[in-house]
Amino acid sequence: MESIWTKTCSIPRREQLQKDMKTEVAVIGAGMAGILIAWQLQKAGKQVIILEADRIASGQTKNTTAKITSQHDLIYANLISSQEEEKARQYAMANETAIEEYRRIIQEEQIHCNFEETQAYVYSTDKEKLMEEAKAAASLGISASFVSHATLPFQRTCALRFDGQAQFHPLKFIKHLAEQLEIYEKTPVRTVDEHILHTPKATVTAEHIVFATHYPFVNFPGLYFARMHQERSYVLALENAPMEQGMFIGDGETSYSFRTYDKYLLFGGEGHRTGDNRQGGKYNALRQKAKELFPQSLEAAHWSAQDCIPADGIPYIGQYASGKPYWYVSTGFQKWGMTTSMVSAMLIRDMICGKENPYAAVFDPRRFSAEAASGIACEGRQAVKTFAKRLFQLPEATAKELPLGHGGIVDLDGDKIGVYKEEDGTLHLVEIRCPHLGCQLEWNPDEKSWDCPCHGSRFDFRGKCITNPAQEDITIEKERPLP
Ligand code: FES
Repeated sequence: MESIWTKTCSIPRREQLQKDMKTEVAVIGAGMAGILIAWQLQKAGKQVIILEADRIASGQTKNTTAKITSQHDLIYANLISSQEEEKARQYAMANETAIEEYRRIIQEEQIHCNFEETQAYVYSTDKEKLMEEAKAAASLGISASFVSHATLPFQRTCALRFDGQAQFHPLKFIKHLAEQLEIYEKTPVRTVDEHILHTPKATVTAEHIVFATHYPFVNFPGLYFARMHQERSYVLALENAPMEQGMFIGDGETSYSFRTYDKYLLFGGEGHRTGDNRQGGKYNALRQKAKELFPQSLEAAHWSAQDCIPADGIPYIGQYASGKPYWYVSTGFQKWGMTTSMVSAMLIRDMICGKENPYAAVFDPRRFSAEAASGIACEGRQAVKTFAKRLFQLPEATAKELPLGHGGIVDLDGDKIGVYKEEDGTLHLVEIRCPHLGCQLEWNPDEKSWDCPCHGSRFDFRGKCITNPAQEDITIEKERPLP
C-alpha cells in the first residue's frame, strides 16, 4: 500500500550510525516533527543529529492527508469551557503561527511542494454547534465563519469555515529540509540512559534529547501509555472525482475527509480504535461510499494512517517528565500532525535555546486536569479489559480450520498462538502477547496485521513490529508442528 505521496516523491537513503558520537541535540525520529524540530534548532545555531529507526518519513508522515490547519474538528468551544480561555487562545494562536511559519519557510527556501492556500471546513447537520464553534474560534483570533451552504457531494449543507489555511505535498517539503540535516537511518534507539542513546552499533551522547517518535517508547517516566491510545483511518486517492477546492472534514464518527491534490481527490474515513477491526471491510466500505458519491471515479492509490489520541485532546509537547529537564517530547497530534509538528518545532527550539514561548503552557506534558484524569481512567479500563482477554478468552479456531488468506488466534498444544495462513497454505506463527505491556493482539483482516487495542502497537503477519510503542517483534522463530 503506497500513499499518493510515496508514489510521487522519493527521498535519498542515508547511512546507519556506525561510530559513537557527541552532539548538543539528538532527535529521535525523522518524521515531519523530528525533521522540523532539528531544522529549527540547527537554524538557531545548535548542533543536531537525527536517529531514525527506519527511513526518513517512513512512519505516519507518508500517510497523512497533509492539511495545514488550525481547524482541528470542533475544539475551540470545548477548549474554552474545559481550559482557561488563555490556554484556548494559546492553542489557537500556536497553530495559526505554525501555518504562517510553513508559508515563510516554503517561500524563503523556495520549496516546490504543491503548497496551496485554501479554506478548511467542518461540515455537519448541527447548525447550532457550528455557529457556536465559529463564535468561539473567532473570539480567539481565528478567521472563522459559519457557512450555510457548503458545496459538498451530499446533503450536509452547513459548515464552519476557516480562512488562511493551506495544503501541500509533505514528502517534497520534508525532502528539501532533510538535505540540510545530519540523519542516520536504520538506527533505532533501543534505550536512553540519561544523556546516552544506545543504538545497535553505536551510542550518541547528547546534552538534549528529543523524542519525536510518533508514540514515545520510554514508558517510565512520562506514563504516556496511560494518557493516549491510537486510531486508524483509511484513504483513497480518486481520479475523476471533481470537487470544490478546500479541505473538508465531517463532524461525528461516521464522517469523511476530502481534499484535492493535483488531479486527485483524497477521500478518507472509516476510522476506528487500533486493534478494533476484527470483522474488517474498512476499505470496501470506503470504496462503496466513493462509488456512491463519485460514480465515475477511479482509484489511483489507497493507504491507511494511525494517529495518537491524547486523553484531554491536547498534544503533549515540551519537557518529557518532571526530573528530566534535558528530555523533550512531541506526541499526541490526533489527526493534525502537520500543523502540530510545526508547533512542536517552534516550542522545543525555544525551550532548548532558553527562550520563552508564549504558547508553551497549554501543551505542557506535565499538566494535569479533570478532563485528562477521566481520559486516563478510560485508557486504563481498556488496557485491563484487553489484558484479561488474553488470559481468559478461548481461541477462535484450530489452525486447520483457518481458511486460506485468513488469520486468527488458534490453540496450539494448549497455548494461544496467532496464525496467518497464506493463500498457498504457508503458516506464519506469532505470539499474541504484545511486547509493550502485555495486552492481547487482535487480527486486522484489512491490513493483514496484528494490532494492539491498548496503545496501538502493530505487527505485520510475519510478526515484525511496524508501529510503536512496542520495540520488539513477535515472530515465533521455531515453528511447531501443527495438529
Ligand atoms: Fe501497549 Fe500493546 S501497545 S500493550
